[in-house]
Amino acid sequence: MLGFRRFNLRGKLILILLSMALLTLLVATSLFSYNDLSIFKKNLVRHNLAIAGSAGSMTRAALLFEDSKRGNEIFESLLRREKQVEFAALYDAEGKLFVQYSRNSSSLFQPPSLKSKAYDFIDGHFEIFQNIFLKGKSIGKVYLYADMDEFNAQIESYIYLVSFILLITLAISLALSIPLQSIISKPIIALAAMEKRISQKGDYSIRAYHDSSDEIGLLYKQFNEMLAQIEVRDKDLVEFKQNLENSCDQLRHLNNRMQSIREEESARISREVHDELGQMLTALKMDLTSLKNMFPEDSNDLDVKIEGILVFVDQTIDTVRKIATDLRPEVLDHLGLSEALEWYAEDFQERIGGKWKLEFNVQEVPLQPDLAMALFRIYQETLTNIARHADASKIQVKLQKIKDSLLLEIIDNGKGISTPDLSNPQSLGLMGMRERARVWGGEVLILSQSGFGTSIRVNIPLEDSFMDAKEKMNVYQVK
Ligand SMILES: Nc1ncnc2c1ncn2[C@@H]1O[C@H](COP(=O)(O)OP(=O)(O)O)[C@@H](O)[C@H]1O
Ligand SMILES: [Mg+2]
Repeated sequence: MLGFRRFNLRGKLILILLSMALLTLLVATSLFSYNDLSIFKKNLVRHNLAIAGSAGSMTRAALLFEDSKRGNEIFESLLRREKQVEFAALYDAEGKLFVQYSRNSSSLFQPPSLKSKAYDFIDGHFEIFQNIFLKGKSIGKVYLYADMDEFNAQIESYIYLVSFILLITLAISLALSIPLQSIISKPIIALAAMEKRISQKGDYSIRAYHDSSDEIGLLYKQFNEMLAQIEVRDKDLVEFKQNLENSCDQLRHLNNRMQSIREEESARISREVHDELGQMLTALKMDLTSLKNMFPEDSNDLDVKIEGILVFVDQTIDTVRKIATDLRPEVLDHLGLSEALEWYAEDFQERIGGKWKLEFNVQEVPLQPDLAMALFRIYQETLTNIARHADASKIQVKLQKIKDSLLLEIIDNGKGISTPDLSNPQSLGLMGMRERARVWGGEVLILSQSGFGTSIRVNIPLEDSFMDAKEKMNVYQVK
């Protein structure tokens, strides 16, 4: 049964058709043969009973006159023609052996025990006991012991015949079942092949055609209906996905644009604060210095007061510089990203009073300002995170060009980021870093294990970095 299941549909149908044809024929021929053989057997018995009858009536006189020689002659002449008779005997009324006959002189006759029934089957032979009557009185008994060779030969010939018929039937059934099974298997196999093609290509507009009103026709109809439903749903899904991707793209570009605007605005404010406010404060400082010089050294308290104001003006100039630097780190424009990274880490550490061991392995790579600023902002967020969450004692910073991409890696030996924090949609700082990198076709890979620190790897393909973000915006709008 298990082997049968392994066959394909075609094989199964052929096997079913063949076994049905063979089984039916086997039953029919067996019944016929059985019937024929039992008639044959009956006739055989009847024929031998008749022989025994004739032997009895012919030896009646010999029995009466106790002429065993005559009895022997009659037996010889009658039984020599009957090849099936192996032994025969004639008994008188007292059951005494009177005449005996053997087909082969070499084989010895074993006198049987006389039975009351007319015939019996024994060891592939049959025996006949025929009474000899005279005027209603039994005067003796004829015994025949015959082989069943004729019957066995008949059985053998039936076996050959049945096998021959079965073979012919097998050949005919096979020849017929191959085209017949295809009536059922072909449309099902075609449907299965079509299903495979559809699932591979994802093309639900394909339809299956079959011209019949049976269950297979119904199967095709329902399959087509299912395809139609999937097609509609698939179309909706594709549209929905496209819309979603468009919205994401729009949001990403909007975010990018907002960041550029913010950076530009910060740069403008930084310039104004630095130049205008800085110049005004410097002018104020110069005026105060000349005012102070107008008074003699030890004139009065006014001198001390002006000195105090001068110190305050100096502090204000420092604060203004710090605000301007936060808004737009000029070192980035003047010295490049690698120096800006080193400067910022030291400045930041000093400002927050951190005690990190800083290690730099940075290589100067010429980058367009917007990309350098994006990387710098990612770096600022990373250092802020380390200061706020990591509890680290060492920070390593790498900036390298590897093949056609730029790698910025910041490694700390702090407590690591937990897995829920990594995928938390509330982790806006991490999400912002990823978004900034994505604008440049890059990615941020965060490797972290609890207790073993964190590595933030920013990878930016450099061909992309030459494409201005604003240009990307235009490309998007044209789409
Ligand atoms: N270097 C780090 N070491 C340990 N934890 C960190 C580190 N960076 C980020 N985290 C964890 O990831 C979370 C998300 O970071 P972030 O998105 O920047 O949000 P925020 O800094 O505003 O909490 C943080 O709250 C913190 O728990
Ligand atoms: Mg943060």
